[in-house]
Amino acid sequence: MFFYLNSNPIFQFRCPNICTYRRQIWYHLPQKYLKRMIVTVAAFKGGVGKSTTALHLATYLQAKADTLLIDGDLNRCSLDWSNRSSLPFRVADEEQGVKLASLYEHIVIDTPARPSPNDLKTLARGCDMLVIPTAPDAMAMAATLQMVGALNALRAKYRVLLTLIPPHPNKAGEEARVTLENIGIPLFKTGIRRLSVFQDAALEGVPVNAVKDSKAKIAWRSYVEVGKEICNAF
Ligand SMILES: Nc1ncnc2c1ncn2[C@@H]1O[C@H](COP(=O)(O)OP(=O)(O)OP(=O)(O)O)[C@@H](O)[C@H]1O
Ligand SMILES: [Mg+2]
Repeated sequence: MFFYLNSNPIFQFRCPNICTYRRQIWYHLPQKYLKRMIVTVAAFKGGVGKSTTALHLATYLQAKADTLLIDGDLNRCSLDWSNRSSLPFRVADEEQGVKLASLYEHIVIDTPARPSPNDLKTLARGCDMLVIPTAPDAMAMAATLQMVGALNALRAKYRVLLTLIPPHPNKAGEEARVTLENIGIPLFKTGIRRLSVFQDAALEGVPVNAVKDSKAKIAWRSYVEVGKEICNAF
């Protein structure tokens, strides 16, 4: 499904083995020109906030440079979201995404739940950061551990994002964090709380920072912090 990405010029340019000339350009460019990022959001489990995360990371990155969100999910969740109103960045399906990718500085890829082993390999190797959203419930955590196992076998670079964290006094979020940290899984420091304003945003077809709600700021700030963590990782 994601095989085409390998033939995209942007991905070829990024791969230092493609040809010596490109490798030389790549290694000798000043650091400030090496900020182009491909962020993929994937998880084995459905409904854990993949599309919500992809959309808000694209909103964050768009404020820095032109960003393309590629909706790789056949349900076209992100495309539906963008059709409901105007998002601050371009959303494309995979086919359009291949043609458009080289025109954008940053690319965020939303994916369907449970990618096949081949898709997972392609996704993991074709991005700078693989973000794995997981809710702090037993089923989502089990699926995340399974995915992490597959990614470790591929030696892929990834980070887990806790999402849909229930409000205090529920401790599921903290417990999930401790569990993941104890087994050495790389985690975003920031987690995403379960807030109904995210559903309002989805209904309105806008990012959460465009919703008039007292919780919108808190919700948006958490994705800003995740965006910063991603940028700081380079
Ligand atoms: N932090 C949150 N707080 C409250 N609701 C959320 C949050 N994140 C996502 N949601 C809601 O949970 C539902 C699932 O989110 P989303 O579509 O982003 O998940 P997904 O992993 O992309 O699902 P799928 O596997 O179906 O593609 C949506 O209704 C969304 O609005
Ligand atoms: Mg989705």
